Amino acid sequence: MSSSSGNLKVGGKDVELPVKDGTIGPSVVDIGKLYGQTGMFTYDPGFTSTAACESKITYIDGDEGILLHRGYPIEQLAEHGDFLETCYLLLFGELPTPTQKADFDHRITRHTMVHEQMMRFFQGFRRDAHPMAVMVASVGALSAFYHDSTDISDPHQRMVASMRMIAKMPTIAAMAHKYSVGQPFVYPKNDLDYASNFLHMCFSVPCEEYKVNPVLSRALDRIFILHADHEQNASTSTVRLAGSSGANPFACIAAGIACLWGPAHGGANEAALQMLQEIGSVDNIPKYIAKAKDKNDPFRLMGFGHRVYKNYDPRAKIMQKTCHEVLKELGIKDDPLLDVAVELERIALSDPYFVEKKLYPNIDFYSGITLKAMGFSTDMFTVLFALARTVGWIAQWKEMIEDPGQRIGRPRQLYTGSPKRDYIAMAQRK
Ligand code: SDX
Repeated sequence: MSSSSGNLKVGGKDVELPVKDGTIGPSVVDIGKLYGQTGMFTYDPGFTSTAACESKITYIDGDEGILLHRGYPIEQLAEHGDFLETCYLLLFGELPTPTQKADFDHRITRHTMVHEQMMRFFQGFRRDAHPMAVMVASVGALSAFYHDSTDISDPHQRMVASMRMIAKMPTIAAMAHKYSVGQPFVYPKNDLDYASNFLHMCFSVPCEEYKVNPVLSRALDRIFILHADHEQNASTSTVRLAGSSGANPFACIAAGIACLWGPAHGGANEAALQMLQEIGSVDNIPKYIAKAKDKNDPFRLMGFGHRVYKNYDPRAKIMQKTCHEVLKELGIKDDPLLDVAVELERIALSDPYFVEKKLYPNIDFYSGITLKAMGFSTDMFTVLFALARTVGWIAQWKEMIEDPGQRIGRPRQLYTGSPKRDYIAMAQRK
């Protein structure tokens, strides 16, 4: 990585700071020594101009609408590969050979069962618990079941924990769904591929044979690919920060799931569908566009806008295509929600407010309609996002742990509270 330096004049002092160039994308100014040289911190609460780490995993060009995983465009990975191939690529940095892919699939498939006592763990939840609450708790609880893969200093244990989480997330997610609908848990089947196994665990019942629809399992596998990783988004940054303290991987992923749940992040797919249902018909769209533009109205068009993409989210295009494939396969001709979504997108993309602010549909805009058509309840949408993003969180956590320069993350602050003052005895307080 080449580097030069930049000069900064701050607090009356001239400071020379190293500039580091990446392979592609913006260079960075290394401010590690800024405080020592100036007594000042930088200030960037939303991290809009701050690189928190160096990474080789994913690259996003927000202006061009480009997303690369280890250099491969998301469109090509989604078109030609499957989710476990993308998992291998994110974890190890290269596309697997046929032998490596077969071995990886075999290992993942044989870790899909969870400890039988996890069933009893689930009994403690109310049936109407939000499945994301169940996911946060259950994934965190994995560190109580799998003590033999929590020592992060041991590369073997790190790999075992990584494989276990990728393999077991679909099982736990399906259990969360089954528990919420009062149906018996369904064990994974080793003769099914990753996405088919998940559909089987979610939708089969003991009373009859369940046949996986190959069009739906292929669509779901592609949806998992689209959600696998996305640079240093809020939940990935949460996992990195939790991992920087040496916390065990299960606890770190549970922290990532908790962060993803927020409606500004992964919770947007659930919120986007609820928004489309609230809008209800094409006639109501102008009223909601006006609400979204009204500074005094907290309403936002869920599924629109992105911190990085100031062009169309490349995943949204593939998501839209997948949505139409699924609706066609299921014989859903005129889905009113899809009509609202298509018209809302058309109006928003021609409205000066959205054009000036570069607010395009993101991955969450079409995913809700697709997942609802496939039979998932709205509160399961973010669970599926967490299922797919687990490999991204793990790959980023692994990269951080294996970085020899890794230190605990500990940001500073701009303090605007009270200066030092003496304690006031109770009797003196008015
Ligand atoms: C994901 O980071 C990732 O990579 C995340 C993700 C991933 O794969 O990990 O891509 C997944 O989280 C996608 C984003 C899903 N969230 C939503 O769809 C929720 C709706 N979107 C917004 O809340 C918002 O766009 C964010 C949170 C996505 C981005 O927020 P920013 O970058 O902090 O932008 P901002 O809030 O400062 O908005 C900039 C301007 C504001 O207007 P002004 O104050 O400048 O006048 O745009 C407006 C906002 O009011 N704006 C919107 C809007 N999003 C931003 N106005 C109406 N509707 C919206 N959706």
